[in-house]
Amino acid sequence: MECKVKKADIVHQILRGAHAVPAGDRQAQGMGYAPTNIALCKYWGKRDNELNLPVTSSLSIALPDKGAMTTLSWNERAEDVVVLNGTQVAPDSAFVTRLIHYLDLFRSDEKWYLNIDIKMNIPVAAGLASSACGFASLICALNDLMKWHLPHRELSILARMGSGSAARSLWNGFVFWHEGMREDGMDSFGEPLNIEWPALRIGILPISEQQKPISSRDAMLRTVNSSSLYSSWPRKVSQDLSIFKQALKARNFSLLGGTAESNALAMHATMLSSWPPICYFMPETLKAMKQIWQLRNEGCEVYFTEDAGPNLKLLFLDTQLDKIKNVFPEMDVILPFE
Ligand code: PMV
Repeated sequence: MECKVKKADIVHQILRGAHAVPAGDRQAQGMGYAPTNIALCKYWGKRDNELNLPVTSSLSIALPDKGAMTTLSWNERAEDVVVLNGTQVAPDSAFVTRLIHYLDLFRSDEKWYLNIDIKMNIPVAAGLASSACGFASLICALNDLMKWHLPHRELSILARMGSGSAARSLWNGFVFWHEGMREDGMDSFGEPLNIEWPALRIGILPISEQQKPISSRDAMLRTVNSSSLYSSWPRKVSQDLSIFKQALKARNFSLLGGTAESNALAMHATMLSSWPPICYFMPETLKAMKQIWQLRNEGCEVYFTEDAGPNLKLLFLDTQLDKIKNVFPEMDVILPFE
């Protein structure tokens, strides 16, 4: 796909509208926290690989106390040093290279270097959206350090250029990420829906903390280029998004949970039909899915969703907690609205 607009052009455009602070007046330290988010209607496939512009819109829910806290300070030795959960990450690792490339977008006119301290309470690259909260917290910390005072919409656009799903990690609650139509992606950002649903619960079912066999970026590209099922994906998303709208309006949990599960399975079906095939399931993932279907047959309403990793996220209402905990005692329960 030919790409005309460059990330650096978008950064320039956004920073032109930002609060300009002379270098000497910046903060000594910048901090930003971002919650991770779980997509109920998935983003799978890009219409622009450089800017991370999605083929479709998507919808997520934030996990408020699972996320990333990034603290930035100036590094006077002219090097970027990345510390993740208390341990320095090798400068030549893929993780640090990706962060440095991202930071380079913001220092084309002026050279500065940072100490980047990231604390995450979710496993990295295991399909729990660590890159979403990581990039969202990084851009919030940079905004704080530089005193740019950028609005959340612009921060969402900038976060998206680090990792697509990061566009949704700037807010708590339900967030809609607009696919947008513009070539420069200035209309492709997250928007909070301001819908409260206090009884809703998300259960994180840890299956494996192993890093994913293929990155979501590469997996998306391969799916778009080779899956015979991919052409039906945008239609599926558009139908699901209108069902989600009804489900949220009516607080209809069966409709919400069923649509989320069906959407996740359809996304994985497009991956399985790619070539070479992409499969994020592990045998234990399938075993847990069958236990969930069994619980539903017994009248306990619980649904799952799965991202680019083997772990499942369960959706249920507080009244079902005890029954579900009996089957999955290791599940971590999140209260998204409390
Ligand atoms: O933003 P990425 O490149 O980490 O891709 C996220 C892809 C999924 O988690 C599978 C779906 C989604 O919408 O978050």
